[in-house]
Amino acid sequence: MTTISSQLQDQLVDAASGARTFAYAPYSGYRVGSAVLAGDGTIVTGCNVENASYGATICAERVALTRAVAEGKKQFVAIAVATDDGGAPCGICRQVMVELGPEMVVFVNDAAGNVRITSVQALLPDSFDGSGLINAG
Ligand code: THU
Repeated sequence: MTTISSQLQDQLVDAASGARTFAYAPYSGYRVGSAVLAGDGTIVTGCNVENASYGATICAERVALTRAVAEGKKQFVAIAVATDDGGAPCGICRQVMVELGPEMVVFVNDAAGNVRITSVQALLPDSFDGSGLINAG
């Protein structure tokens, strides 16, 4: 797992916490922020965006990652997720993390400032990576 300096970790966690304030969560009230560190050193943020048709909701992590892809980022080093209670990323987000940043370090932080450090590999071992798909590679 890549080592991230504590200064960069703080920056990423702060960015995720900041993005959390923009969460659009009128249905669950569960506000989530995220920030991804791209290989070029830039940080891209996201928040959860809910919908009255609940299945159309998108999680903060996927907003950050898809936004970063749309900005031309191709490599991802780390991702931070900020919630009130230190909740872990959901299964769909883990799958997207495997797709876009399988080597990422994951910082899971709560509103009290506690940070748990884990990795995409630890969160989703033995994952489906598409290598068997006909157009893979
Ligand atoms: N949520 C995220 O943003 N990320 C996760 O990994 C877990 C869940 C959001 C989706 C929904 O807006 C709210 O949290 C409750 O599920």
